[in-house]
Amino acid sequence: MSYHLLRCLLFQLPPEGAHYLTLTTLKTLARLPGCSSLLQSHDLPQKTTSYHFGLPFENRLGVAAGLDKDARYVDALAKLGFGAVEVGTVTPYAQPGNHKPRLFRLPEDKALVNRLGFNNDGAEATAARLQKRTSNVIVGGNIGKNKSTPNEKAIDDYEFCFRTLHPHVDYFVVNVSSPNTPGLRELQEKKALKKLLSRLQKLNNKMEGQRPLLLKIAPDLTHPQLDDILDIAHKTELDGLIATNTTIAREGLATDKKTLDKIGNGGLSGRPLTDQSTSVIRYLTKHKKRHLTIIGVGGTMTAQDAMEKIDAGASLLQLYTGLVYEGPSLVADILNAIALRENTGSVTERK
Ligand SMILES: Cc1cc2nc3c(=O)[nH]c(=O)nc-3n(C[C@H](O)[C@H](O)[C@H](O)COP(=O)(O)O)c2cc1C
Repeated sequence: MSYHLLRCLLFQLPPEGAHYLTLTTLKTLARLPGCSSLLQSHDLPQKTTSYHFGLPFENRLGVAAGLDKDARYVDALAKLGFGAVEVGTVTPYAQPGNHKPRLFRLPEDKALVNRLGFNNDGAEATAARLQKRTSNVIVGGNIGKNKSTPNEKAIDDYEFCFRTLHPHVDYFVVNVSSPNTPGLRELQEKKALKKLLSRLQKLNNKMEGQRPLLLKIAPDLTHPQLDDILDIAHKTELDGLIATNTTIAREGLATDKKTLDKIGNGGLSGRPLTDQSTSVIRYLTKHKKRHLTIIGVGGTMTAQDAMEKIDAGASLLQLYTGLVYEGPSLVADILNAIALRENTGSVTERK
């Protein structure tokens, strides 16, 4: 069955229901001996390992945070051809997230709006699941704070998640850019951010086996705010930046205002975010003063979008909404476009 036909059926279901049905089916198929190989597209190019922040990525495309918040589907997602899976956002304690409905499709815009609010099983449950994974795909741990934790105590939450997930993940991402946890984005402010990242690096240095530490940023930051982020990234010796999370903007959408008003607040992802996220990547690449790996994410719906992010300076890519609208063949499309470029010798780890 073509993905577009399957999408018509899935789009008859509420978005969150469709999400879990798809991923549970994928996981079941991945475990069945005869079916597992069917998941892997025959169109995937040969693996070409490249090193980023010291880790060997089998390819440059990963699953963005939020798709597998609780590390339930890591092995199945690896079978689809992804080179990395970022789990989370994980908080210290399990929390239910916001009231439903909290995930909405904007089909005319090939977009999603979500205000899930870090629904997750908590750090210990996720660590236990990661311990049982069978694939050796690179796993990132995207960490945040519980909704009930005030910003003054946020550092304790990040440290708890860091310690708990440390044995089970290859790199960490500090998420201070989700629009769905009240006050979280205030942690992107210079002083608070520097304190948070310095404390995490201090903890990292004390651990047996340091993990690369990255920061995920919002697409709605001004240039002076991006300059501050770069400055802090350098001072706290971050390994990379993930650009970007979802946007709170609603400009230029095809979806009518009445529908948007009915949906209400939340982070917008998918096609409307493509250029905004690519511009942030371009700005960071132009203004960074030392090596910093940039993971490009936001509105990658086609192989061309992926190549534009690489041209803007991203060394690695992630996607979420593109998978919902275009299906798993997008993975092979993107990896083939990258392989074609690599064969002509122009995709290199950018310094
Ligand atoms: C339903 C949904 C849930 C998400 N949850 C998280 C999350 O928990 N943590 C996070 O850092 N980003 C989260 N994101 C943001 C994505 O990781 C990504 O940065 C954003 O959606 C832009 O990429 P895309 O256009 O390819 O979806 C979520 C996105 C969606 C659509």
